[in-house]
Amino acid sequence: MQKLLVTGSSGLIGSEVVSFFCEQGWTIHGVDNNMRADFFGAQGDTRWNLSRLQSRFPNFIHHEIDIRNRVAVRDLLSELKPLAIVHTAAQPSHDLAASRPLDDFDVNAVGTLNLLESARQACPEAPFVHMSTNKVYGDRPNQIRLQELVTRWDYADPDFEDGIPESFSIDQSLHSVFGASKAAADIMVQEYGRYFQMPTCCLRGGCLTGPNHAGVELHGFLSYLIKCNLEGKVYKIFGYKGKQVRDNIHAYDVTQFMFQFIKQPRCGEVYNLGGGRANSISILEAFKLAESITGKPMQYEYYEQNRKGDHICYISSLTKMKSHYPEWRITKNLEETFQEIYLSWQNRTAANHASPPV
Ligand SMILES: NC(=O)c1ccc[n+]([C@@H]2O[C@H](COP(=O)([O-])OP(=O)(O)OC[C@H]3O[C@@H](n4cnc5c(N)ncnc54)[C@H](O)[C@@H]3O)[C@@H](O)[C@H]2O)c1
Repeated sequence: MQKLLVTGSSGLIGSEVVSFFCEQGWTIHGVDNNMRADFFGAQGDTRWNLSRLQSRFPNFIHHEIDIRNRVAVRDLLSELKPLAIVHTAAQPSHDLAASRPLDDFDVNAVGTLNLLESARQACPEAPFVHMSTNKVYGDRPNQIRLQELVTRWDYADPDFEDGIPESFSIDQSLHSVFGASKAAADIMVQEYGRYFQMPTCCLRGGCLTGPNHAGVELHGFLSYLIKCNLEGKVYKIFGYKGKQVRDNIHAYDVTQFMFQFIKQPRCGEVYNLGGGRANSISILEAFKLAESITGKPMQYEYYEQNRKGDHICYISSLTKMKSHYPEWRITKNLEETFQEIYLSWQNRTAANHASPPV
């Protein structure tokens, strides 16, 4: 039986990975301690998602382990010796990290190192897929020449027409505490690939989304935006006239790329993983799309001050991913993704007002 270890298995990406590989007949060992609830309060609670996975998949085994616990991680890996590892557990918020820098670094950087070193001891041949972030580039993308369009910012420099490539510098910019802890992890994952020749990769995510996100104000842009629309809650726009652009990728398409990498791994690779230009959208444009799906007007307030270090326009170049893994492509467009998120919030709210609390 093929065995996969997934950290952060109750979260957005982790749970999608669990579902996909369970459906392929793999045995999945998930690691999650519901620390999202600790980070974001009750609204970030992911136990509803854990219960969903446990009830659906008999080949899913949950381990309530904190990845900061080096001994527990080492023991688990040496007992399981998985065929592959997908690491998605993290403190994922740019904004939250500033209030909890020690926890942020311990989870994101040290937790990743705990996993890498345990994998090196127990199963060095196992492909190790790490969820990194585009925040490793810091605010350097804001130095690209931009043009202001009616509803969005866009690149004015033709070199970036297809998005930002992996060769973009991660050095000498404002990263936020979160971007810095993720950059530390990203470099360590590359190093275990290059120095120890382990099959590792970093996926530098743009906005990852999907119906199983416990979206909160500080993390999970589209999920939270659609939730606000549904509930008539005020969405706060921070700066850039609401024209800031993100490229969004559905968790399913993220998982499909991971699957390709696990089938044909390489050592110490880095990929920018986003929805690309076709799945890019500004906040103002997202309001319109949400309104067209729900039929409800978006309530919002505008604050002049942007979030510190926030990207004005970020679009991932998918060129390298497609050239290394030509079978992979984006399968979910923005309309489909919005619909799925909308239906999921409706179902969750209807099924149980406390899961996750609204
Ligand atoms: N969602 C996005 O838009 C986005 C964008 C770029 C990168 N990423 C990265 O992708 C990864 C997954 O993001 P996500 O959106 O699925 O996040 P998520 O918060 O939905 O899932 C992360 C899971 O990790 C668990 N976790 C946190 N700390 C833990 C610990 N110490 N031990 C064990 N489990 C722990 C949480 O409880 C949560 O269930 C993260 O590394 C994140 O930085 C996400």
